[in-house]
Amino acid sequence: MTILVTGGAGFIGSNFILDWLAQGEEPVVNLDALTYAGNLENLASLQGDARHVFVQGDITDRALVDRLLAEHRPRALIHFAAESHVDRSISGPGAFIKTNIEGTYTLLEAARQHWQGLPEPERAAFRFHHVSTDEVYGSLKAEDPAFAETNAYEPNSPYSASKAASDHLVRAWHHTYGLPVLTTNCSNNYGPYHFPEKLIPLMIVNALAGKPLPVYGDGQQIRDWLYVRDHASAIRAVLAEGRVGETYNIGGWNEMANIDIVKTVCALLDELRPDAAGPYSRLITYVKDRPGHDRRYAIDARKIERELGWRPAETFATGIRKTVQWYLDHPAWVQRVQSGAYRDWVQQQYGA
Ligand code: NAD
Ligand code: DAU
Repeated sequence: MTILVTGGAGFIGSNFILDWLAQGEEPVVNLDALTYAGNLENLASLQGDARHVFVQGDITDRALVDRLLAEHRPRALIHFAAESHVDRSISGPGAFIKTNIEGTYTLLEAARQHWQGLPEPERAAFRFHHVSTDEVYGSLKAEDPAFAETNAYEPNSPYSASKAASDHLVRAWHHTYGLPVLTTNCSNNYGPYHFPEKLIPLMIVNALAGKPLPVYGDGQQIRDWLYVRDHASAIRAVLAEGRVGETYNIGGWNEMANIDIVKTVCALLDELRPDAAGPYSRLITYVKDRPGHDRRYAIDARKIERELGWRPAETFATGIRKTVQWYLDHPAWVQRVQSGAYRDWVQQQYGA
């Protein structure tokens, strides 16, 4: 048996593959275009491991996806590949429409054709697992209950709109054609291999470089943070036991304001790598807000706990300590991802 993963060289996909191969022997075929966010160094520990087959290619390439399905006959396709950064979707939405919508459509059509041709019992066992986000539900007010699977979709950014569109396609391919799909909508992840355009790794690498820590608006926006390996274990649980056609929300039961996240990172760095110039919090700099910035996300993760017995293993205190330590232990990884293209993005987004 084999699984096909898309986007497995990115942050969550690579953590998922490392976790998957640490748990068992089932091989993984990893289809990834290696955009700026894809990094094979994340999977360096699998070099020479026959259980990991890497294929560089685009999910919008139907012929390639058809060939991989025919050649490897995976029992499941787990779809991580996406353009994932909200700020980039604001400055350049085109790639989000192409990868997140057209790419998901391409995979669904290829998977449908493949699945329809499978003999039983492979046909009954096949799964298309779509990895999505809590951002499709829009923004919560302080007093609102957390997002449940029954919430209406109200995406607010080009990124979340493109993910919402992909979720709708997945739903329709199940409803219309019977494709056995699973969808998970997860909250903000953090952990090793997180590209330093996102809040937590950006704060760590900027602090270590003595650069400003840019906090958007008033810093009181709330996110629900989950350690990335807990996301991986949730996906494994849904793939194994999730009910076909269902959606499962995944979250960390851990709502925190951005400014408190930044202060936590600063305090850990003060402890683990003290700076003679003074506490890292001196670098906190309020900058102009993200256009259309969602105020609050929070996940009601009771369904996945009730049906599948899943709960996160890490608390924020344990997960963030591991994460900060990982960045301190991997300066070469940090240095290499801060390539020319990365510097161009930082210049465009934050100016001098
Ligand atoms: P990421 O940006 O770190 O990685 C995306 C990966 O997809 C990269 O390896 C990239 O090379 C690849 N990719 C992009 N376009 C491609 C294409 N056209 N064809 C093939 N590969 C392509 O993203 P991530 O943070 O790891 O997110 C993975 C998935 O999880 C996404 O679908 C995202 O929407 C979802 N998600 C992310 C979070 C989070 O906090 N990061 C939370 C919930 C859900
Ligand atoms: O909720 C799940 C989503 O979480 C995923 O679907 C996305 O792929 C992922 O990127 C993430 O989106 P966010 O926009 O919440 O993550 P980001 O790390 O970009 O920002 C987290 C919060 O921090 C958000 O309120 C914006 C703020 N922020 C971010 C950056 C990059 C800052 O204040 N300063 C910054 O420089």
